[in-house]
Amino acid sequence: MHPILNVAMIAAREAGEIIMKYAQDIDRLEITEKDRNNYVTQVDQLAERTIIKTIKKYYPDHAILGEETGHNQADSPIQWIIDPLDGTTNYLHQFPHFSVSIAVTEKGKLQHGVVYDPMRDEMFSASKGQGAKLNNRRIRVTEQKNLQDALLATGFPYYQFDYIDDYLATLKFFMTETAGIRRAGSAALDLAYVACGRVDGYWEFNLKPWDIAAGILLVQEAGGRCSDFAGGDNQLASGNVLAGNPKLFKHLAIGVSQHIRTELKR
Ligand code: IPD
Ligand code: CA
Ligand code: CA
Repeated sequence: MHPILNVAMIAAREAGEIIMKYAQDIDRLEITEKDRNNYVTQVDQLAERTIIKTIKKYYPDHAILGEETGHNQADSPIQWIIDPLDGTTNYLHQFPHFSVSIAVTEKGKLQHGVVYDPMRDEMFSASKGQGAKLNNRRIRVTEQKNLQDALLATGFPYYQFDYIDDYLATLKFFMTETAGIRRAGSAALDLAYVACGRVDGYWEFNLKPWDIAAGILLVQEAGGRCSDFAGGDNQLASGNVLAGNPKLFKHLAIGVSQHIRTELKR
């Protein structure tokens, strides 16, 4: 295993321990609303500080982008991208589905990614060119090629509603054309679930790099495809992401692209 991936896994487990410790005491947490319906707790902040401390212990010169602390402006081609708790709304409601997401890029290209589910003790990991794993076992996307038989994951807009009509048009299309849709509440786990074949595909609008960076690499290393809504490679920057097994992918891309405005495609 690459030493950077090893450090990412150590840091994700440490964050997971913090998340699980405070999960017993949700009522006592201080909760701040960043925007309407967009919450942050001390757990998000403490988990992120812990992850950064571990990264800095091994790699003091690397750059870091964390959801809660922003950019650490180190002048390094290597950047860590952290979501210390993906699925904070679930966490606050004791809905047991959330994760820690840590990715590493080199000159802007994804090299390593981990998504850790502390509830189920599931560690999804991938390094570029090395395949993807769930708890040390290789994972692959599904072989499903028919939209009618596909189970898809998605995320609903919940604090930024600019594109809600476009989103609802895609939802209506996939709702009527597939076997079912799941909105579980952690984008990082949605992508991890595409990677390990629990769902056949996934789409969501307007995400941040820390929600999806690790998950994109997991899907790609598990033999799947990821793109923006125009089928291009701009998903990390645009936050509009489509993922699925290669056989289903073109149906997903056509479905999304036919139901949104042109400017949303990239
Ligand atoms: C959110 C989750 C959710 C997705 C949102 C994200 P957060 O992340 O990934 O599934 O629909 O768009 O912002 O705020 O819980 O880290
Ligand atoms: Ca997130
Ligand atoms: Ca978060």
